[in-house]
Amino acid sequence: MNPTKIFICFTTLLFTYTLAATSPPSPITLTPTPAPAPAPDYVNLTELLSVAGPFSTFLKYLQQTKVIETLQNQANNTDEGITLFVPKDKAFTNLKKPSLSNLTADQLKQLCLFHALPHYYSLSDFKNLSDSGPVNTLAGGSYTLNFTDVSGTVKIGSGWTNTEVSSSVHSTDPVAIYQVNRVLLPEAIFGTDIPPPAPAPAPVPDIAPVADAPDADGGKGRAGKASSPSGADRVGVGRWLMMVVVVYGGFMVVL
Ligand SMILES: *[C@@H]1O[C@H](CO)[C@@H](O)[C@H](O)[C@H]1NC(C)=O
Ligand SMILES: *[C@@H]1O[C@H](CO)[C@@H](O)[C@H](O)[C@H]1NC(C)=O
Ligand SMILES: *[C@@H]1O[C@H](CO)[C@@H](O)[C@H](O)[C@H]1NC(C)=O
Ligand SMILES: *[C@@H]1O[C@H](CO)[C@@H](O)[C@H](O)[C@H]1NC(C)=O
Ligand SMILES: *[C@@H]1O[C@H](CO)[C@@H](O)[C@H](O)[C@H]1NC(C)=O
Repeated sequence: MNPTKIFICFTTLLFTYTLAATSPPSPITLTPTPAPAPAPDYVNLTELLSVAGPFSTFLKYLQQTKVIETLQNQANNTDEGITLFVPKDKAFTNLKKPSLSNLTADQLKQLCLFHALPHYYSLSDFKNLSDSGPVNTLAGGSYTLNFTDVSGTVKIGSGWTNTEVSSSVHSTDPVAIYQVNRVLLPEAIFGTDIPPPAPAPAPVPDIAPVADAPDADGGKGRAGKASSPSGADRVGVGRWLMMVVVVYGGFMVVL
């Protein structure tokens, strides 16, 4: 092998290698990932509650009592915001003892307002809230709720109802919506003559719903996450080109 042959062989190798090394990455730089759409300030509660859940019973009561307008107004108030506890449909069908059927229109309205706090609280804020005593709801007056944070789980107490936040449906300042497995019953309506809890009827209902819990995000996951263009494919092509170069170079050397 004379020096000229070696030189040609070397330059060919170098040229092919440079081609292989520089050409593949260009399509990557040409397709920047789109910036995530900014979250809208305005959250339409009716829309949110009708796609998440199922919360149709609660939504029906909110609309019937027109409380939905009060809540939407509070949600529109970006300074304070709102925290709303929404019972699933099953919570209403499971509710046997104090019935909602003979409540007056005003009592039903108060019951709905009792499920909302006039401020946005993230789940971690409840650690603080639990130390501050009874918390006022939108129903005002003696319609208060007690919160306790038990190792990250937010427990809610109303006297009649002891339940917990079972999932977060929406939590972006100023609107927090948390799913609960029970209808929150205020003492201000049902009195303080609370029947003692039934002697251990197996603690099923409150813990079970993990399986049927809906997508915590209400199916609103960002579409941007969906698919990254096939970067892996490009790596594959690059590797394949490199192999061709090596084989080709070896061939030239043999010549
Ligand atoms: C909120 O959503 C509901 C149901 O989709 C719709 O009927 C209503 O017009 C919306 N309200 C506003 C203010 O956009
Ligand atoms: C809330 O804000 C939206 C959008 O600005 C508006 O269309 C709606 O009428 C407001 N609703 C209430 C109850 O304030
Ligand atoms: C609802 O009706 C039952 C009897 O059917 C009665 O015992 C109860 O006090 C009533 N509740 C209210 C809030 O009026
Ligand atoms: C919790 O409460 C304390 C005192 O009440 C306050 O200084 C602190 O900022 C609060 N923390 C949060 C996260 O709200
Ligand atoms: C809420 O907590 C207070 C003590 O902070 C207690 O006196 C009250 O009975 C509790 N109310 C309910 C409904 O559990």
